[in-house]
Amino acid sequence: MKAERTHYACEECGEASVQWLGRCPACGSFGTMREEKKEPAMSGGSRPKAEPLPMGSIAEEKPRITVGIGEFDRVLGGGAVPGSLVLLGGEPGIGKSTLLLQAASSLAARGAKVMIVSGEESAAQITSRARRMGVLNPGLYLLCETDVEAVAEAARELAPQVLVVDSIQTMRVSDLDSPPGGVNQLRECVYRMQALAKEVDCAAFLVGHVTKEGILAGPRMVEHMVDCVLYFEGERFDSLRILRAAKNRFGSVSELGIFEMTDAGLVEVEDPSHYFLGAREEPVSGTAAVVVMEGRRPLVVEVQALVVPSRLPSPKRVSTGMDHRRLAIDVAVLERKARVRLADRDVYVGISGGLKVSEPALDLGVCMAIASSRQEKTLPSETVFLGEVSLTGEVRPVSRVEERLREAARLGFRSLALSDRARLRYGLHGLKLVGVGDVRGALAAFGIA
Ligand code: TYD
Ligand code: MG
Repeated sequence: MKAERTHYACEECGEASVQWLGRCPACGSFGTMREEKKEPAMSGGSRPKAEPLPMGSIAEEKPRITVGIGEFDRVLGGGAVPGSLVLLGGEPGIGKSTLLLQAASSLAARGAKVMIVSGEESAAQITSRARRMGVLNPGLYLLCETDVEAVAEAARELAPQVLVVDSIQTMRVSDLDSPPGGVNQLRECVYRMQALAKEVDCAAFLVGHVTKEGILAGPRMVEHMVDCVLYFEGERFDSLRILRAAKNRFGSVSELGIFEMTDAGLVEVEDPSHYFLGAREEPVSGTAAVVVMEGRRPLVVEVQALVVPSRLPSPKRVSTGMDHRRLAIDVAVLERKARVRLADRDVYVGISGGLKVSEPALDLGVCMAIASSRQEKTLPSETVFLGEVSLTGEVRPVSRVEERLREAARLGFRSLALSDRARLRYGLHGLKLVGVGDVRGALAAFGIA
């Protein structure tokens, strides 16, 4: 038998090492390696005997449980799957508890038995919040508990169809020596929730707090363990919230759900095109819409530019949400290749919704927004701009046009400015195409040269 050894695990990603390291070799975080005692795999104890079955004797999957909140169901891929584990990640205060409370109430109202386990708030707090939001459902079961075994026992007894655990970081396994919040604890909690979801045959939603740098403990590790990973995102001081799937064994990851945080909780933005175009109803100079890819997911954002006379010998170029070097290049190209005079102007560029966009497909939109502000002329609000701009001023095709177009069309955009060199091997989804060769031509095509 091997001697019991201590080992070290990264709090961020769960990477294990036999020696202490100042920097995690897997994720590169500093000072995140913590000592962990090797524990026997505890969840193995009650595992049922493995038994292969002839396919003909296997019952088909149970139907999905529809939440009844369209934007949520869409991202789930058509509702929650019994026996599955869904992680809902997001920064503290973004609205995870609110979203799941509303989802739970909606499910309860549709006749599902739902149990909310909270390790963060009291039952009274949750109830009054539900009342305030007008979603108080007497059939909703609440349990304030942090001990996983106690939760499991309660769930076995109640046999809910849906289980919400808020948050996974507050849960602990009492018969495990490791300190709460550590990787071992988190892993074991998720394992037991997984086993529980299978045993009770319920859809389990786990809340996971995420900081700007990642989940408080072991983000990627938990992501690998669950069936579906949803992220709830938005700016704290902005009411727009976006729910997106980062992983989904039961659906596509390109769907996103859009919500608005109001005094009465989250309201679905059922017609995002109206939401976005409503905000852009009267075209404003200095704005241009772009479809960016966030990982594998397309998202329409608005580039906002403000160009003002500068009193400085070297005028300011300030960007939020995009790389400042990219902005410097776009400004230089506008000056030299499209004769937009900016040398005596300060240029500020931001991305709506507080997103950080790093892909070159943003270039054309940035150039258009800056020129639009400089000339004080508006761009059509139903047009999206897609294009990487080279140092010569040429507008280049972008990748994944099909997905971007589908998203733009879904959000109600009607036309599209794209490199005239892009060979279209896909449907345009009803968008009118404006082919542009270079930045100068693009400005001319939209009357802002
Ligand atoms: P919450 O769901 O508690 O966030 P999380 O669980 O992700 O930490 O949401 C907290 C924020 O949402 C808080 O700042 C207040 C705001 N909020 C509203 O604006 N309206 C509401 O109806 C509710 C319930 C919360
Ligand atoms: Mg919360």
